[in-house]
This record gives sequence, C-alpha cells and structure tokens, in this order.
Amino acid sequence: MKKFIENLPKAELHLHIEGSFEPALMFKIANRNKISIPYNSVEEIEKAYKFNCLQDFLDIYYQGASVLITEQDFFDLTYSYLQKCAAQNVRHTEIMFDPQTHTERGIAFETVINGISKACEVAKEKLGVTSLLIMSYLRHLSEEDAFKTLEQSFPFKDKITAVGLDSSEKGNPPSKFKNVYEASIKEGYIPVAHAGEEGNSDYVWEALDILKIKRIDHGNNALQDETLIEEIKKRDIALTVCPLSNTALQVVTDLKKHPLKKMMNLGLKITINSDDPAYFGGQVNQNYIEIQEALNLTKKDLYELAKNSFQYSFLDSKTKQIYLNELENYYKLNS
Ligand code: ADE
Ligand code: ZN
Repeated sequence: MKKFIENLPKAELHLHIEGSFEPALMFKIANRNKISIPYNSVEEIEKAYKFNCLQDFLDIYYQGASVLITEQDFFDLTYSYLQKCAAQNVRHTEIMFDPQTHTERGIAFETVINGISKACEVAKEKLGVTSLLIMSYLRHLSEEDAFKTLEQSFPFKDKITAVGLDSSEKGNPPSKFKNVYEASIKEGYIPVAHAGEEGNSDYVWEALDILKIKRIDHGNNALQDETLIEEIKKRDIALTVCPLSNTALQVVTDLKKHPLKKMMNLGLKITINSDDPAYFGGQVNQNYIEIQEALNLTKKDLYELAKNSFQYSFLDSKTKQIYLNELENYYKLNS
C-alpha cells in the first residue's frame, strides 16, 4: 500500500506555505537575516510543536514566519515545498499564503508574491509540478484589513487564483468577511474558506451562503448537520480534509476515530492534504499512509481521493483531464 500511495499521482489542495517551513530551513534563513529565534536546535524546535488547540499552533506558526524577510526567503521556502511535491508524485498544488502575516511586519506585498510565484514558475519548468495560489485573509484581523490586502493584490491578479480565510476560527465567523468576499469575487478570485475545523456547522453554512465558497477547507463539523451535508452534496463542493493536522490540533482525538471514511460513505467529495506539514508530522503522502492504515482504506478509496484532488482543483478542464488520465492509467496498472 505504501508504494501504491507513494507512486499515486495526486494534487494537494490545502497547504499553507508558511506551514511548510521546516526547522532546518528556518534556522538557515534566520541566520542569513541575523534574526534570533527562541530555540537552539532543530530538536528544540520540534519539541515545542505540541499543541492543545488551533491557537497554540498559530502562535508558534506566526513566530516562525517572522524570519522571512526577502524575496529570496519566500522563493526558498516555496521551492523547498515544491521539491517535496515532486518527490511525492504531487503533480499539482494549490498553495495558500497569508500576506497579512508579512505586511503587518513591514514586508511589502510584492516581496511575498514575487518570491512565491517565481518558485512556482521554476518548479513548473524544472520539476513538472503545476501550482495555483490562494491568497488567504487572516480572520482574527478586521474586514477593513482584509480589504487593504485585496487592494494590494490588484497589480498581481494574474498570479492569484483564489481567496481563502484562515487563522483563529472561533469568534471570527465567515459573516465577518461578507463584503470583502463579495468584492474579491467581483475581481475574479474564486472563494474558499476554512470552516468547521473548530467552529461548528453554522460556520460552514455561513461560508456557503454568505461567502459563496467553492471549496471547504476542513469542514469536519459539517457532520453535525444532516441538512448541511445534503446541501454540500447538492452544490458539488469538496472538502479539503487534513488528517494529521486534525490529530495534532486535537480536532480528532485519534486517527482511528477520524470521520474521513464516514464522510466518503455519505457521498461527500473528500481530498487528503497536509495543511502545515512542517508542524503536524507529515507531508501529504504521510497523511495518505497513516489514514489508510488507521481506517483500512482500500486502493479504490485512495484512487477516489486522488481523483477528487484533481477533479476539485481549480485547474482548467484540459489540464485537469491530462492529470485524470494519468491517474486512470496508474490505477488500471496497479489495482
Ligand atoms: N493557518 C495555518 N493553518 C491553519 C489551520 N489549520 N486552520 C486555520 N488557520 C491556519
Ligand atoms: Zn489550513
């Protein structure tokens, strides 16, 4: 099964580039920028990665991101992740980035976007990995602040496909961002949002009805409401599920109790993703491997999950079909 997963062509649809920041690279960039971080070794950093909830993690995640200063830093961070994609048969990825995490510290929007997008261009050419970018608004900040970010993105619109919503969910419902989502959609961005990770099913309803999202990030708590499940199916909206993130942040107590298979059995369109792989103990293939073992998933289940990852990506239909054909051939030869 491990080999089958490793060679399975797949897409990753829920990945925060700041969450892919491995401790070794963090040290290297911190040293290069002469910034001190409160750890003496990679081991010390890894020891600090114990979380009781989303906020515990976010505090450390923002601290880690604060060593990123130059365009080269953002390039290196992104290219390092894309190399891991290539090694895992991740053929396509949709990368979230949090501009406000950086602009709040005085880093220019263009430094962030240029570093990230240049790495994506090089990776397409050299590694054959395609990518799209999702600009995510930080929900603990105001809608006004999100509007500023939207405006900063205008000169770079051709590099950004979608807008997302992340950071502290509880107390920051999707409805807080109604106007900025409306404006983002008018600008041509596809709306997605984190919903139902720690927030309840009402947050998922709001994300659907008020923000008009086309994909749900996490969505675990949608299972609290049968009418909502039917509505998600009716609208043909996929969920980007992140198993190792869910256990690391105590959203799920044990992978064996993870609702992923139940979600699939209910007819929901599920994908497997790593969320913040440097913090949660595994890249996307590790997520597939561990959830397969925990829930006894079959090759057919894994094929379906990988198929959804291409089907529910925001790629144009022609490119999507190329990847789907590649997957189909792989499955025929290896099932
Ligand atoms: N930012 C990075 N990872 C996140 C997650 N899992 N939930 C909310 N915000 C995030
Ligand atoms: Zn996330």
